[in-house]
Amino acid sequence: MQNNIKILIVDDERVALKNLEHVMKKEGYEVFGTESGPNALKLLEEQPFDIVLTDLRMEKVDGMQILKKCRELCPDTEVIMITGYATLESAVKAMKQGAFNYIAKPFRLDEVRMVVKEAMAKVRLKKENRELREQIESYQGKVKIITQDANMQRLLETAKQIAPTDCNVLISGESGTGKELFARYIHFNSKRSEGPFLAINCGAFTEELLSNELFGHEKGAFTGAITMKKGLIEMASRGTLFLDEITEMPSSIQVRLLRVIQEKEVLRVGGTETLKVNVRFIAATNRDIQDAVKSGRFRQDLYFRLNVVSLHIPPLSERRDDIPLLSYYFLKKYAALMKKDVAEISQEAMSVLMNYDLPGNVREIENIMERGVAIANGNTIEVAHLPEDLRELSIRTFRKKEGKIPSLEEQEEAYIKWVLKEVGGNKTLAAQILEIDRVSLWRKLKKYGLE
Ligand SMILES: Nc1ncnc2c1ncn2[C@@H]1O[C@H](COP(=O)(O)OP(=O)(O)OP(=O)(O)O)[C@@H](O)[C@H]1O
Ligand SMILES: [Mg+2]
Repeated sequence: MQNNIKILIVDDERVALKNLEHVMKKEGYEVFGTESGPNALKLLEEQPFDIVLTDLRMEKVDGMQILKKCRELCPDTEVIMITGYATLESAVKAMKQGAFNYIAKPFRLDEVRMVVKEAMAKVRLKKENRELREQIESYQGKVKIITQDANMQRLLETAKQIAPTDCNVLISGESGTGKELFARYIHFNSKRSEGPFLAINCGAFTEELLSNELFGHEKGAFTGAITMKKGLIEMASRGTLFLDEITEMPSSIQVRLLRVIQEKEVLRVGGTETLKVNVRFIAATNRDIQDAVKSGRFRQDLYFRLNVVSLHIPPLSERRDDIPLLSYYFLKKYAALMKKDVAEISQEAMSVLMNYDLPGNVREIENIMERGVAIANGNTIEVAHLPEDLRELSIRTFRKKEGKIPSLEEQEEAYIKWVLKEVGGNKTLAAQILEIDRVSLWRKLKKYGLE
C-alpha cells in the first residue's frame, strides 16, 4: 500500500472503470470505484479521498459536480477529469474550478499512471506541510510546563489555583526560567482564556514609545499621529496583559498604569474620554523589585497593586533534576520539527549539561538542543554537538561542584520515575516513550527497585 492513499474512480462506462480500478490497484493505491455519480457524492461525504478520478460527462451527476463537492468537503483532494469529449473548453473549465489535470479518452494507461503520480506528489506535499503546521501549533498553543521538581510543582499548583481569580500576579525569576510561560499558563487556565494574551517588554522602548504602545493615541495627538492607535491595555481587555521587565518602566508611566489598575479605565494619549477596560496584569522581572521599591525607582503603591500574588521561579541551578527532563523534551520537540531521527543524548553529553551552570536556564537548554538536533548526524547528541564554550566551561567548573550533583544513574532513575508517573504506571507506554524495549525497562525498574 502506498501509505494508505485512497483513490475514488467514477466512470459510468463499466469497461473503462474496471480498467482504471485494475491499474490503480496494481500501483498499490486503495481503490474505490463506482459507476454512479450520485453514489460518488455519497462516498465523498462518508470519507476523505486523496485523489478522485472522474469522468466528466455522466448522466444525473457529472464530473463538474463531483469536483465542486470535493472542493467543498476536502480542499486537499486532487481531482483528475477524464473526458471522452476532450474539447479544450471543458478541460479548461474544469482546471479553472480547481481540477488537477485532465485525461482524454481513449487514454493510455501509462498516461493515467503518470498524471496520478503527479497528483500524488502534490497531495503528499500538502499533507506534510499540514502535519508540520499542526506540530508547530500543538507546541505553541498548549502551555506545557515540564518539571519534576517539588518546588516547581507547588508553584504550578499555586498558579492553577489563582488562575481563575482575577488578581494581578508578579512573577520573578532569572532570565529564561519560564516567567512568560507561567504567565501564559495562568492566562490559559483562567476565565479569560478565550480573550487575548498580549505581552510587552517594558525595557525595550523609550518612554514615549512605551506610552504609545500601552495607552495608544488619538489621531493628531502629536506630530506624526496620523491615525488613531489603540493601546495594548485597551486591546488586552477581557484578556491578560503581560508586562515583562516591569522594573524598567519609567516613573511617569508607572503613575498612569496605577491609575488604569485603580479606575479600570484608560485614556489614550491626546484623548479626552476614558475607556472602560477589563484587564488582568501579570508583571515579570528578573531584577530585585523590592530593591527598586526601596531605592524609590519603583512606586510602592504600584508594586502592591501588581504583587497581589507573587510567584518566584527557581533557576535551574536549584532544580538540576529538571535538566535531563527538559533536555529530552526539547530534543523530541526539535527532532519532530526538523524531521530528524535524533532520540538520544549520550551519557557524556548529558554529564556536560548536568555539570554546567546554565545561566540562561531553560531557554539555554532549548537553544542547545535545537542546535544539537540541527547538527547531529546520527541518532544521538554527542559532546561534539554541544556548543564549544559549554564544553570548555564544564571542564573548568566540574571540580568545583563535584559532590553535590546527582549521578547519571540517579538522573535515569528520576527520569524513569517521572515518565511512569506521567503515563499512570503503564509500562508499555513508558517503554515507548523512553524508547527502550520492555525487557530493558523491566531490568531498570528492578535495578532501581521501582517495580
Ligand atoms: N518548565 C518548562 N517546560 C517547558 N518549556 C519551558 C519551561 N520553562 C521555560 N520553557 C521554555 O523556555 C523558553 C524560555 O522561557 P520564557 O520565555 O518563559 O522565560 P523568561 O523567564 O520569560 O525569560 P526572560 O527573562 O529571558 O524573558 C521558552 O521557549 C519556554 O517555552
Ligand atoms: Mg520573558
